[in-house]
Amino acid sequence: MKNETFWDKKSKNYDKRYKKKNYSLYKKTIDGARSLLTNSDVVLDFACGTGEISLDIAPHVQKVLGIDKSEKMIALANKKVRERQIDNASFSQIDAFDQRLESNSFSAILSFHIFHLADDFPKVLTRLNDLLVPGGLLISQTPCFGEKGWFFRSMISLAQKLGLAPPIRSLRIPELESLVSSTNFEIIETKIQYEKYSVQWIVAKKI
Ligand SMILES: C[S@@+](CC[C@H](N)C(=O)[O-])C[C@H]1O[C@@H](n2cnc3c(N)ncnc32)[C@H](O)[C@@H]1O
Repeated sequence: MKNETFWDKKSKNYDKRYKKKNYSLYKKTIDGARSLLTNSDVVLDFACGTGEISLDIAPHVQKVLGIDKSEKMIALANKKVRERQIDNASFSQIDAFDQRLESNSFSAILSFHIFHLADDFPKVLTRLNDLLVPGGLLISQTPCFGEKGWFFRSMISLAQKLGLAPPIRSLRIPELESLVSSTNFEIIETKIQYEKYSVQWIVAKKI
């Protein structure tokens, strides 16, 4: 199944599963991001899903643009902007390589739960680096399933065959850290955020 089709199908129940079912992880993510951002920040939320994180961050920054490849995720995000009347957040159904995004135009990029999914991840990291101003922050959180045992990975692989999971890269934490540091970033924080799925929090500064 195409990645976009998979996420279109997941969009309707995404908030219920993520924000409500796993609220402790959601809160850690939001609190971590907020502690690093200020009201002068211009933020890109890469692979923003239904926009929940962008909209929670919006009151604390100058503006936020959420982008995602899934049409239905973006439609839900746009509906929330209208309902909540938030005027410094916008959403667009584009990927990170879209020409309308300019180099050196964001002071922070949020990349939550996407690096294990993005095709050609090293190229994506290079592009995110290009979009940041020098000194800008990449704030990321990534499930590193390469850290999990054989049984866990077999279950993921079965779920993929059944169309219940998208194509996933089984990253190891040192591999992820090394990819980030070799892409013109200096890692300033790296820690396990959620043990069950080896979710790693990494904050890196564009050199
Ligand atoms: C697990 S969700 C994460 C959503 C949100 N960042 C969060 O943490 O709740 C993954 C999202 O990435 C999007 N996606 C996958 N590959 C993408 C890409 N190359 N460019 C933009 N969005 C992408 C999917 O459509 C989906 O909405």
